Amino acid sequence: MAAGRDGIVRVCFVFGTRPEVIKCAPVIRCLSQREGFEVQTVLTAQHREMSDQVIEVFGVPVTVDLDLMRAGQTLPSLTARLCEGVSGAIQQLKPDCVMVQGDTTSCFVGALAGFYAGIAVGHLEAGLRTSDVRQPFPEEMNRRLVGSLASFHFAPTEGARTNLLKENVPADRIWVTGNSGIDALRIVSETAIVAAGTALADVLAGCDGLVMTVTSHRRENQPFMAGIASAIYELIEAVPNLHVVFPVHLSPAVRKAVMPILSGVDRCHLLEPLAYDQFVALMKRSDVILTDSGGIQEEAPYLGKPVLVMRRKTERPEAVEAGTTILVGDDQATIFDRTLGLLNDAEERVRMAKAANPYGDGYASERVADVLAGAFGGR
Ligand code: UD1
Ligand code: UDP
Repeated sequence: MAAGRDGIVRVCFVFGTRPEVIKCAPVIRCLSQREGFEVQTVLTAQHREMSDQVIEVFGVPVTVDLDLMRAGQTLPSLTARLCEGVSGAIQQLKPDCVMVQGDTTSCFVGALAGFYAGIAVGHLEAGLRTSDVRQPFPEEMNRRLVGSLASFHFAPTEGARTNLLKENVPADRIWVTGNSGIDALRIVSETAIVAAGTALADVLAGCDGLVMTVTSHRRENQPFMAGIASAIYELIEAVPNLHVVFPVHLSPAVRKAVMPILSGVDRCHLLEPLAYDQFVALMKRSDVILTDSGGIQEEAPYLGKPVLVMRRKTERPEAVEAGTTILVGDDQATIFDRTLGLLNDAEERVRMAKAANPYGDGYASERVADVLAGAFGGR
């Protein structure tokens, strides 16, 4: 592939949600420092506040802001708005390569728009798979579709590479780089401390026992969200020195289920979504993490924190194999039992907390930049 019209390789990142910004930010930083590359960014703002929050933490430059979020957006309406918006931005920016990350609707449509425009597509975090196209929904389908649309597949692990090979992605289009989310964590985690005078600082100052951090937002968990909140309520009642810190996702479906059950409950601290560095500081202070998040399943092993994953299936089996994460499903009684068991078993927490790091050494971005430089002739 040739470099752009004036010898400069223009790489256009399309992203819209919190985790995409976190995982693209180190790659953007790395490519921006390479001679011969120009980085462009299209922020779909599928998440308005939550993507702005991380853009600020990492100082990510935004070339085009499509500002597409609508409260309570449906998948079809979001997809339609994205398709027109991202295609228009690509037409305007004329990149040599479109980069997307992960499995969100912004990621899928970014890849589709690049494909429609006849531009090479790079996929960060390629090759994650569960065995069920509806778990997680719609992310599993999104990443399979992006796997068909992309020309550069940046797989975080050997397992992800194997998944792509099984789907007949040519071996010479796959690079095992590690996950750029670990780059972000490496950059932030050593210095991440809770900022004084914040709600989080006040909460942690009052936590004298066990700290359990909770996050939940998966669409396929929405029918179970009230059950998840009830399990947390029961855990607080059962463990007298437990403090739950729960930064609640801005999704109205999550808030509607969680708030009526957990608002005002003693030792349950419901917070607004935390800036990334603040959330990392909270994870470092936690004894246990209970979540259905994808990214947190990668971050917690790096930080040596035990994680209980509220999902039936995970596309991140490496952390389960390493022993730092356990799948507990979406059923209220099981979540309660398994979490109570871990909260009452300090030795098991120590066993699980052994830092394992199956998702990379924190230098995935350099490898991605090397691949693009080799392919396009950037320096
Ligand atoms: C999306 C991704 C999911 C990712 C998650 C990260 C898809 C299909 N899903 O979840 O893979 O794990 O983001 O958090 O792309 N909202 C705000 N402000 C924000 C963010 C959200 O008000 O900053 C509200 C809006 O009402 C929005 C709703 O939350 O409609 C849900 O946002 P959406 O992007 O649709 O979230 P998910 O699809 O649940
Ligand atoms: N995160 C954050 N603030 C919070 C909660 C999470 O910055 O209040 C970070 C977390 O460290 C991880 C990412 O957001 O890097 C995960 O995002 P989310 O769970 O929304 O999406 P997923 O990873 O499931 O796609």
